[in-house]
Amino acid sequence: MTQSGSVKVEPIGVLGLGHVGLPTAVGLAEVGWTVIGADDDRAKAEMIARGQVPFYEPGLQEALQTHLRSGRLHITADTGEAVQQARVLFVCVGTPLSHEGLPDLSQVEAVARTIAHHMNGYKLIVEKSTTPVGTAKQIEKTLRWYSNGQHAFDVAVNPEFLQEGTALRDFLNPSRIVLGVDSAQARDILLTVYQPFLRPDRPHGPAPLIVTDTNTAELIKHASNAFLSMKISFINLMADVCEAVGANVDQVARGLGLDPRIGPHFLRAGIGYGGSCLPKDLKTFVRVGESLGVDMGLLREVDRINEERPLRFVQKLRQALWNLKGKTVAIWGLAFKPGTDDMREAPSITIIKRLLAEGARLRLYDPQALPTARRMLGGEHGEIDYSPSPYEAVREADALLVLTEWPEFLQVDMASVRRLMRVPILGDGRNLFDPQAMRALGFGYFSVGRP
Ligand code: UDX
Repeated sequence: MTQSGSVKVEPIGVLGLGHVGLPTAVGLAEVGWTVIGADDDRAKAEMIARGQVPFYEPGLQEALQTHLRSGRLHITADTGEAVQQARVLFVCVGTPLSHEGLPDLSQVEAVARTIAHHMNGYKLIVEKSTTPVGTAKQIEKTLRWYSNGQHAFDVAVNPEFLQEGTALRDFLNPSRIVLGVDSAQARDILLTVYQPFLRPDRPHGPAPLIVTDTNTAELIKHASNAFLSMKISFINLMADVCEAVGANVDQVARGLGLDPRIGPHFLRAGIGYGGSCLPKDLKTFVRVGESLGVDMGLLREVDRINEERPLRFVQKLRQALWNLKGKTVAIWGLAFKPGTDDMREAPSITIIKRLLAEGARLRLYDPQALPTARRMLGGEHGEIDYSPSPYEAVREADALLVLTEWPEFLQVDMASVRRLMRVPILGDGRNLFDPQAMRALGFGYFSVGRP
């Protein structure tokens, strides 16, 4: 790609090739840049270099293969090599939840030290992993301590707003581009990198752009995920009220979401939000705010409401089935949402653990997440069976719980399901099915916030 003016940005380095890094690397190649993607996990890097995506993300594998072939994307297991070759380095390493309920930033620090060690000229380090406000400043300090001071650098923040399941599409069609920069050079480089998204001749016009300082950019990310979590907990609270008075939360959500000031998205009631981001990010933000002396009670409550969801749902099953001991419960949907095989912080895990603790036997099915489930929950044993199809899972079951709203569940012949089950109890944790249709088929049906 031709680079505007004298600002050199290629090849662009992407450090860490997980759910954020790989779509970023592939997406940057897709818009025309030459990219070097690095991951210290050699097996993972080799797999990606062969054109295989180590997790399920629609459309990503095809695009990865295209850009490995086009030569615009090069993959290495040597982060130092990427640092030496690239001038702009997107940091996309993991920030998993630590024991203290805060993100573990050791991978971010390790990458900062690797960068410091391999600096061979000016570098722009761009924090893309979601990290607590203040992390960019911390990276800057680490770089200063561990580099020999010969080379200049800047640290910038460019939060990602990718959703798993649509990550590449989201990268290519950003709702906004946020650049947190503390120097004109960092700003100019990032404006060049994102220039393909800012062209007025794009089909839907240029992506909205916000250029700000690093702390503000980090806070935009905190605020976005906290607000999304708040919308979900809000509608789940409404679901509780709906259940108490026999109202319908789906209709409340529709009536509420049509107000343009509120908007229709993220108002689906259910068993709560999971995933690698929302639960962790909210807890982190609460802790960060409190450490700064701010009363974060509003968001504490959001978290509390969410934590209650899975067990409230189990309580409904208990009401339907009475004792769970010795009962066979089929579960459709293990991933934290459809379109992914990711089960991190999935509400299904809390529900599964509770059911096992009460002595139930489980038959699990998910279109994509069975390998993940095997890894997280252990292999086949007395209490857990992994089923190859939704029909297999419900055979002789005393109840069926739907925990992820995979669209393909709507294609299943529910009359056959009803016949295969020992007891036709259907608990729909995502309000996927039509209650009347399910009752007409003979199911004892319960869902969330609907009469
Ligand atoms: C989220 C943010 O949306 C994204 O911008 C950020 O970059 C990363 O974190 P993701 O983790 O992929 O993305 O999941 P998301 O689509 O936000 O869903 C999170 C959880 O909320 C899922 O468990 C989903 O089932 C649940 N959810 C979502 C609801 O329960 N109700 C809704 O209305 C929407």
